[in-house]
Amino acid sequence: MAPLVQHIVVVLLIAIPLTKAVLDAHYYDKTCPQAESIIFQTLRNASLYDRKVPARILRMFFHDCFIRGCDASILLDSTPGNKAEKDGPPNISVRSFYVIDDAKTKLESACPHTVSCADIIAVAARDVVAMSGGPHWNVLKGRKDGRVSIANETINLPAPSSNSTQLIQSFAKRGLGVKDLVALSGGHTLGFSHCSSFEARLRNFSSLHEVDPTLNTDFAENLTKKCPKHHTDSNAGQFLDSSASTFDNEYYKRVIAGKGVFASDQALYGDHRTKWIVESFARDQALFFSEFASSMVRLGNVGVNEHGEVRTKCRVVN
Ligand code: HEM
Ligand SMILES: *[C@@H]1O[C@H](CO)[C@@H](O)[C@H](O)[C@H]1NC(C)=O
Ligand SMILES: *[C@@H]1O[C@H](CO)[C@@H](O)[C@H](O)[C@H]1NC(C)=O
Ligand SMILES: *[C@@H]1O[C@H](CO)[C@@H](O)[C@H](O)[C@H]1NC(C)=O
Ligand SMILES: *[C@@H]1O[C@H](CO)[C@@H](O)[C@H](O)[C@H]1NC(C)=O
Ligand SMILES: *[C@@H]1O[C@H](CO)[C@@H](O)[C@H](O)[C@H]1NC(C)=O
Ligand SMILES: *[C@@H]1O[C@H](CO)[C@@H](O)[C@H](O)[C@H]1NC(C)=O
Repeated sequence: MAPLVQHIVVVLLIAIPLTKAVLDAHYYDKTCPQAESIIFQTLRNASLYDRKVPARILRMFFHDCFIRGCDASILLDSTPGNKAEKDGPPNISVRSFYVIDDAKTKLESACPHTVSCADIIAVAARDVVAMSGGPHWNVLKGRKDGRVSIANETINLPAPSSNSTQLIQSFAKRGLGVKDLVALSGGHTLGFSHCSSFEARLRNFSSLHEVDPTLNTDFAENLTKKCPKHHTDSNAGQFLDSSASTFDNEYYKRVIAGKGVFASDQALYGDHRTKWIVESFARDQALFFSEFASSMVRLGNVGVNEHGEVRTKCRVVN
């Protein structure tokens, strides 16, 4: 064998086990070339009818990937014997599942049994970010759908009361780094939170402080007006950002100003491991966009399921 050929063979042999090439940007090029345009059109239409759709779909992708990997376990409905993830504790605002169902119905008629529900969420999450003014990236595809979804596993999601160490550990468990944590938390540039997710910061916060001292005083007053003591409006809450339907770096500027809605947002500014990254994203939106895009690709690789199925309906296993 000529030395050059031999060299190439050796490189290939080494490269195959290392790259574990499960996902691929061109995965559906031959089997369903129109897949991404079908998903995009569905998301664009749905977002025009309901402005809450983009934030909900972005959050859906995060929750899906953090529990059992990106396997569409969040889409499965509860069954008589099993309470599913979507009915677990923070189910109050993960909604808009109908949009994924619509995309799936169209994909099943265009290319039956081909596009997984997990890939639909991943592409949809990219689309809602891009259509809100954020970055665009190539979504790697080829995920398979899982067959298991368990409500109480959602306790493994990070909580809005988590401190920086807990957040870093939660992301590290999924193979994500400190930069991924800060960049992906920028997802809070979109959407809304109910009072229950931040109310504990507003009164009787600790034995030393009535109100969370990391909260800007005027902003704390505003939050308290929106969530008065013993309020009964279950829809009450606060937009996460002053431009909650535009994807931008405003979130980081607000965190620096003490206007992060969750303790977990504010914690990123209180720890030297993350503070400098918050500052760099607040200064440079282009940097935030490119880091957000690469962190979303990494989030999309978490626990990818090679051996599952392609569901026919996203709400039920085949
Ligand atoms: C770092 C840990 C995180 C925590 C503790 C957290 C927590 C929360 C909480 C408590 C809510 C509000 C739920 C409600 O009361 O309605 C929320 C909303 C949201 N989160 Fe996160 N989150 C985190 C990371 C992320 C990531 C990584 C993304 C996406 C990249 C994301 C995207 C969103 C979006 C878009 C909303 C608004 C949802 C809507 O308007 O319906 N979050 N998050
Ligand atoms: C657009 O969205 C609306 C509201 O969800 C839905 O009723 C309609 O069927 C959608 N149209 C298309 C072409 O997807
Ligand atoms: C949401 O989760 C709570 C707490 O686990 C549960 O009591 C409630 O039934 C769930 N809500 C829905 C709509 O499933
Ligand atoms: C979760 O639910 C399963 C059964 O559904 C139960 O065996 C397990 O103890 C529960 N775990 C927690 C932490 O509640
Ligand atoms: C974060 O919370 C954990 C668990 O409650 C605690 O042990 C730790 O000291 C806290 N770390 C920081 C940086 O506050
Ligand atoms: C405030 O919290 C403490 C425990 O941290 C509790 O004992 C007390 O009852 C709370 N006060 C009110 C008014 O809720
Ligand atoms: C509080 O709310 C008012 C009225 O919506 C707004 O003009 C002001 O900027 C808010 N203050 C802070 C600190 O967010």
